Amino acid sequence: MKAVLIKKYGGPEVLQITATTKPIPRNREILVKVSYATVSTGTVLLRRGKVPDSLLLTILMRLIFGITRPRQEIPGVEFSGIVEEVGADVQSFKKGDEVYGTTTGLKKGAYAEYVCIPEKWKWGVIAHKPKELSLEEAAALPVGAMTALELLTKAGLSAGDHILITGASGNVGNYAVQIARYYGARVTAVCGTANTEWVKATGADEVIDYKKQDISRLSNRFDIVFEASGRIRPSLLKPLLKKKGRFTSVKALTSEKNEKLITIHKMIEAGKLRPVIDRVYRLNQVVEAHHYFAQGKKGNVVIEIGG
Ligand SMILES: NC(=O)c1ccc[n+]([C@@H]2O[C@H](COP(=O)([O-])OP(=O)(O)OC[C@H]3O[C@@H](n4cnc5c(N)ncnc54)[C@H](OP(=O)(O)O)[C@@H]3O)[C@@H](O)[C@H]2O)c1
Repeated sequence: MKAVLIKKYGGPEVLQITATTKPIPRNREILVKVSYATVSTGTVLLRRGKVPDSLLLTILMRLIFGITRPRQEIPGVEFSGIVEEVGADVQSFKKGDEVYGTTTGLKKGAYAEYVCIPEKWKWGVIAHKPKELSLEEAAALPVGAMTALELLTKAGLSAGDHILITGASGNVGNYAVQIARYYGARVTAVCGTANTEWVKATGADEVIDYKKQDISRLSNRFDIVFEASGRIRPSLLKPLLKKKGRFTSVKALTSEKNEKLITIHKMIEAGKLRPVIDRVYRLNQVVEAHHYFAQGKKGNVVIEIGG
């Protein structure tokens, strides 16, 4: 099968398309014929082997993911696809099912024509694709939507709260906008000039362009501030909270759990949550796709593998 192999950390050019062996599912594994994967912040971090502006986190990351080269020889965290074969002990999936999920903690990622995913494991998820989404959209759903849901839940979001969401044009941030609206919050979204219109169309009550307006002037007015860009210091944002307001940030550790996907599916069924896809690249354009991601994009960038 065709796959992208990564033998060293570095820029997009370290991603090399190679012929490799098609995996065989073990008893509790599902063989997925991959339709789409994504270029995500996680995939890019694992490719670069560096956490921007943090030597400590870079060292930690290398200890976990490989000191001199990535342990995961095929990158790609998120996928969607069709079940090709199931191991003898798999109960919830059968050949032909449309699925999506993550490869978190597995030796091989989703930038390949086939990937083996355990039916259940500690670090990642696999689920049936909601019928309301295309396979292309489903690939872009799991990490951003689960992260946004977990952090909003932990922040105690409830109907009527006024929330400020930074990074609202990004993966996590835009899911946070849609989920906060689903729960009846009033959403003030923050993003760059090129993205204000479509972010408003995803449900934000108001949108602030951080390139034109200094958000530090909005002091003492939000019940929750969600820093979803990963780029703004908490000390700049906490003064924007009301007296008993709550701060949450994508810098917090989160986990991937199937229960979260059940909640997310309800939002999708209700027509209140939908992934935003900016561009779709083909597998042989994977290097170009990673370059495009680095320039800044709208929502998500997807890679078509089997289509
Ligand atoms: N805790 C977790 O489990 C978890 C999971 C996923 C991601 N993350 C972290 O969450 C962060 C965001 O990830 P993502 O995948 O959502 O990223 P992303 O899709 O690249 O989005 C980044 C967002 O940041 C905005 N931005 C860029 N520069 C900015 C600035 N100077 N001031 C304010 N906003 C700025 C961008 O806005 P414009 O493009 O409109 O300018 C965009 O909305 C990253 O740090 C990532 O590591 C954490």
